[in-house]
Amino acid sequence: MNNPNEKQLAGEAALRYVEDGAIVGVGTGSTVAFFIDALAGMKDRIKGAVSSSEQSTARMKQHGIEVFDLNATGPIGIYIDGADECDPHKRLIKGGGAALTREKIVAAAAQKFVCIIDSSKRVDVLGKFPLPIEVIPMARSLVSREIVKLGGQPVWRDGVTTDNGNWIIDVHGWRITDPVGLEQQLNQLAGVVTVGLFAQRPADVVLVGDKEI
Ligand code: A5P
Repeated sequence: MNNPNEKQLAGEAALRYVEDGAIVGVGTGSTVAFFIDALAGMKDRIKGAVSSSEQSTARMKQHGIEVFDLNATGPIGIYIDGADECDPHKRLIKGGGAALTREKIVAAAAQKFVCIIDSSKRVDVLGKFPLPIEVIPMARSLVSREIVKLGGQPVWRDGVTTDNGNWIIDVHGWRITDPVGLEQQLNQLAGVVTVGLFAQRPADVVLVGDKEI
């Protein structure tokens, strides 16, 4: 069960990693919402943020936090984001909120990725949470057939369009013992935009509530 108190503690604890003058990479989701609200309290000490979704952009703008285009900033020092699952190697499943593509881009641009979660997200092996995959709409059936061949059960997240105009397939039934290999394999499929596995580039730091693990 999700634990809102731990999410709030994690969101607030992440401020410890934000340095004065920084441009902060900001993820998406309910834990990140707590982080954004906490970041607002030090907005005069940072330069601004790079956002991973329209949702986070709107929340930051409400607080008066300046949001930059990643193309204008170059590499960024820190990225703060939540996750749907986290294994002992800090490898993640993300994309429950459909923001995985921009999240992966900002994570790739960041020197340090701090992942903020509550304890319900910790698992020994990834895959209980259905793996989100963003696809180009015309490739939905093609990619789904390939996933069936790989032993997964694809379910179209009907009615959801990502910020990039694409669709999401959630893959059930995978026990992901080789997340790096699966991420690479799925990245090769024509029509796949982004796989919600963050294994090639895992988190650097994980905060469960206010405790670093
Ligand atoms: C967004 O697409 C996801 O990757 C989020 O990072 C994740 O779903 C966050 O979960 P919480 O809402 O529980 O923080």
